[in-house]
Amino acid sequence: MIHVPAQSISVKKVEQSRVSTVDINAATMGIHFTDHMFVCDYENGQWSNPRIEQLAPIATHPSAMALHYGQAIFEGLKATMGKNGPVLFRPQMNAQRLNESAQRLGMPDFPEDLFVEALKQFVWIERNWVPTAPGSALYLRPFMYADEAFTGMRAATHYKFIIFATPAGPYFSKRIRLYAETNYIRAAAGGTGEAKAAGNYAAAIKPTELAKKHGYDQVLWLDARNFENILEVGTMNIFFKIDGKFITPNLDGTVLAGVTRNSVIALLKKKGFSVTERPISIHEIIEAEANNTLEEAFGTGTAVGIAMLDEIGYRDRSIKFPVGNPVGNEINMTLNQLKTQEIADEFGWIIQLP
Ligand SMILES: Cc1ncc(COP(=O)(O)O)c(C=O)c1O
Repeated sequence: MIHVPAQSISVKKVEQSRVSTVDINAATMGIHFTDHMFVCDYENGQWSNPRIEQLAPIATHPSAMALHYGQAIFEGLKATMGKNGPVLFRPQMNAQRLNESAQRLGMPDFPEDLFVEALKQFVWIERNWVPTAPGSALYLRPFMYADEAFTGMRAATHYKFIIFATPAGPYFSKRIRLYAETNYIRAAAGGTGEAKAAGNYAAAIKPTELAKKHGYDQVLWLDARNFENILEVGTMNIFFKIDGKFITPNLDGTVLAGVTRNSVIALLKKKGFSVTERPISIHEIIEAEANNTLEEAFGTGTAVGIAMLDEIGYRDRSIKFPVGNPVGNEINMTLNQLKTQEIADEFGWIIQLP
């Protein structure tokens, strides 16, 4: 693999930004997009022509392999407005995770230094799109897909890696209700659960719609064999606090290794809490509720930060979580303050731009 030097990114800026036409501090994520995109092409066994150019539709051949065989992976992270300008939160972790996803789907690695450099240059160019309202951010979506025109089942030889961005106004996390799914699965041992593969989300759409129809916010995924062990939530990892101690499902290949999950484990440990990564049966949660040791639970993810749980619906039961004064809210505040540089970054997680 030939690595493209980071400084070779070519830039062609738009003449007139559209930023004044969007209320970025009140924008719903995913509706408005910034002026530019980063694009890089893979052919003949190497990445070439890294460029930042005007955001525009890309012509797609009807036989583009991603459309048929699903070689499509993505990442998600946020740029926030810190005290000294825009910052990125742990982008190296997303670079590594993209490559872990790529390996599982038989796709080429994307150079991690170029991934981070592209994000830095791209966000700096789009800095006027980074919202400043508390809890808001510029959501960044790096992704890779097979754009080779070929009909047949094999690894593609042409890919595109692209980054685009969408402003996301303040997210007020409410206590959420989860539906523990006992008919459909998200991931099984040996599958693609730990990859951030587009197909994982395709398989989750119908169960998520069904859960919403029944008044729940998201699906809680259980293990594929017995529908007992808790894996993760639709777009979040999950933590429980039982009898003063935190537990979260271990990364056994069926769970996405969340950047927020990793950060929350470090922050909880820093506060002196015990955090154990291990298999967690839903019956253990039911038991803890029955003997009054179930203290709190929350989901963690880039889009929402930390979302406290109100309830889990499992078969014919409802598991309720106390309101109290949860540690999850404190950790959420710390995460937000790190991202806006209101507190010192003792972990080395923040990358200051430019
Ligand atoms: C299935 C799934 N699990 C967990 C997460 C949380 O990961 P992160 O904290 O890196 O956003 C996400 C969001 O990306 C997700 O889609």
